[in-house]
Amino acid sequence: MSPIRILGLSAYYHDSAACLLVDGQIVAAAQEERFSRKKHDERFPSQAVEYCLKHAGIGRDQVDFVGFYEKPLVKFDRLLESYIASAPRGLRSYLIAMPMWLGQKLWLSEVIRSELGAGEYVRFGDHHESHEASAFYPSPFEEAAVLTIDGVGEWTTASLAHGTGAGLSMLREMRFPHSVGLLYSAFTYFTGFKVNEGEYKIMGLAPYGEPTYVKAIRDHIVDIHEDGSIKLNLDYFEFVHGLTMTGRGFERLFGGPRREPDAPLTQREMDLARSVQEITEEVMLRMAKTVHRETGSRKVCLAGGVALNCVGNGRLLREGPFDDIWIQPAAGDAGGALGVAYALWHRYLGKPRVSAEASGTWQPRASGGSDGTPPAYADAMQGSLLGPAYTDGDIAAWLQANRVEGERVDRGALPARIVALIAAGNVIGLFHGRMEFGPRALGCRSIIADARSTAMQSVLNLKIKFRESFRPFAPAVLREHVADWFEFDGESPYMLLVADVVPSRRVPPPPGAEALWGIEKLKVARSTIPAVTHVDDSARIQTVRRTDHPLYYEIIRAFYDLTGCPVIVNTSFNVKDEPIVCTPGDAYHCFMNTGMDVLVMESFLLTKQARAAAASGGDALLSHSARSTS
Ligand SMILES: [Fe+2]
Repeated sequence: MSPIRILGLSAYYHDSAACLLVDGQIVAAAQEERFSRKKHDERFPSQAVEYCLKHAGIGRDQVDFVGFYEKPLVKFDRLLESYIASAPRGLRSYLIAMPMWLGQKLWLSEVIRSELGAGEYVRFGDHHESHEASAFYPSPFEEAAVLTIDGVGEWTTASLAHGTGAGLSMLREMRFPHSVGLLYSAFTYFTGFKVNEGEYKIMGLAPYGEPTYVKAIRDHIVDIHEDGSIKLNLDYFEFVHGLTMTGRGFERLFGGPRREPDAPLTQREMDLARSVQEITEEVMLRMAKTVHRETGSRKVCLAGGVALNCVGNGRLLREGPFDDIWIQPAAGDAGGALGVAYALWHRYLGKPRVSAEASGTWQPRASGGSDGTPPAYADAMQGSLLGPAYTDGDIAAWLQANRVEGERVDRGALPARIVALIAAGNVIGLFHGRMEFGPRALGCRSIIADARSTAMQSVLNLKIKFRESFRPFAPAVLREHVADWFEFDGESPYMLLVADVVPSRRVPPPPGAEALWGIEKLKVARSTIPAVTHVDDSARIQTVRRTDHPLYYEIIRAFYDLTGCPVIVNTSFNVKDEPIVCTPGDAYHCFMNTGMDVLVMESFLLTKQARAAAASGGDALLSHSARSTS
């Protein structure tokens, strides 16, 4: 019997993506931005689709089902109802939105058919059911509570659900305009950041502030109910009928107009960030308690944009009612492409689900390997490494075609070469294996460096990323050593949980450090791994296992053998305002246009010195390059 191939799509809001599921297994998934090089690209994911099909070696006519992650007509219904409810106030935003709706969104079946050039019948999933499916079906759990929280889908803004085997049913939902995601985005906007992009900056800014506005927010802006549902006071928001998120009400309550994007940050923005972060965490905890009570489950799966709030996730794991937590790595709308494909497989086609817990082929999570290392992480995401990969032959051909010098290093010797460079203070671009699906770089399109260095935060921010950041960089740590360095002893393969550095690794701040203000605080070493320690001693952890990520694991292991430290810096391989690199050309371009010292592409090691020597040595070196890469 020929396999059943399902293509999942998300598009036309932000972060469009495609995913191919073959007989219930994820074969490929990617965001369009990686190919188009337009950050958060919302257009039809033509290139992501092309990649998925090419990876599977199939044509468009071999796709059996196409799923779109939400229902545009229901979304349009919300737009119309919101307009009618507030008319004529929302006329301007209505007129701006209409051309896109009339041109594409309302005719999505036809748009998708014409884009794919085939006659597939398109199935439309519900936005939050797609999030729920992306959270539960690839999770390691046979049975779990499911919590999805975002800005808004069609009408739903958060949902509580229960998954058992192939069954997944929504128990409760919260509806527009009452939304945790939109509340967070309103503060993102008011503090001068870009909505749908700057939310992680608010989370990073929060530890610098005090929760001085919590009472004002609760008294005037939001009612938080015992069950975690919320009610927004719409007098304070403009998003229902306006072109902005907030208006005069916010200005009166918080002492003046919003911060202009280029204006300096003040204590007010930091305090607002801390306050809305605390409110969000409280809502997440209450929602978790409700879904725990209603399902009786000991485990929870999360998705939706708010599930990228790794500080909230960490608190949910520590203080919430669940023993275990699994978060979809593509928790935002890109993951909806994967969710709708899974929903079609299990719910529309009625196919059974074999979870990690129920499968004899996957190891139970409690038992480790014979060498003491924990077992493979038993979810179905394959480390979220679902994008394009390039072989050594591809890299050699690219280097030769572009007349670029690269040293081919024996694969077994590569980790030791890389860590010697890291320990000497070099910043390495690491490009190998399949590109990550979701917003985080997890070691295949990453920049890595020495976490012990006190200078590394500034070096990376100023020479590589060309930005100042409120958050430190994230640590990648060997799974078997995570509890020795962080107050955490579990799985965080997707860098979506925050925990504190253990007290024994912290160092007292030097005299006068407490008087520092704002981002200057981040420059004070607070632990023996200062490049990855935030001002509140926390870190956004990625745990790494040998079985899931062999080369990446070997690099960190070699660093541990050399230095006694099983922690390195992992930050995404891109510069500010650009998507993470996808191809060897993207990686090389980023390498040459930043202060990065070394680029590793599969087995090839490139240095700026070799490049300079090649430039001055002419053809002799270039022909050597051709020999070395053949
Ligand atoms: Fe969403």
